[in-house]
Amino acid sequence: MDPTQELLFSEHEIVLSAVTLAEKGEKLLARDEAACENILRRLLTFFRDYADLYHHKKEEEILFPEMNRKNALLEEGAIKEMLENHDDFRDMLKSIERFLDKKDFTRALQQLHIYSEALLDHIAVENDEIFQMITVLFDEKEIKDLYFRFLDLDRELGEDKKAALVKSLDQIRQEIIRLTATECDHG
Ligand SMILES: [Fe+2]
Ligand SMILES: [Fe+2]
Repeated sequence: MDPTQELLFSEHEIVLSAVTLAEKGEKLLARDEAACENILRRLLTFFRDYADLYHHKKEEEILFPEMNRKNALLEEGAIKEMLENHDDFRDMLKSIERFLDKKDFTRALQQLHIYSEALLDHIAVENDEIFQMITVLFDEKEIKDLYFRFLDLDRELGEDKKAALVKSLDQIRQEIIRLTATECDHG
């Protein structure tokens, strides 16, 4: 696989690992409301800053426009749908935050679940269809150019910040393990 596709797929993998953590929300809420809120807010930050800023921005500002230039049918079809999904995701994150602000954790978790499911579907379509078109639409040099533009964007947004966001998932994972690993599990 070329580094362009590899970078996109690896970002998806990281986003998927955050979805896995989001699915622990119900269990956390049952154990500790305040800790649950704290973790949900940190996950929201991850989804907003990593999934939306670092990842969706690559698709929206670099990959998708180049794909549309190669095949105008995509612009009104598959790519349009992907962009609409991104907009929906932003609305869903806002809605989750509103419920958290109201301390309505049950509805915040319901929204987070809807968001997670939609994100899983979206990533599956990109992995199986959209990213597969890269090698069909572009020649070797164009694919390399996309890769360098992705790296430029990461540099512009901050590589350290990107690494810190990935690391934050490890911290969240550890905390979820600590919070949920009580004797209740054995009894
Ligand atoms: Fe996307
Ligand atoms: Fe994506």
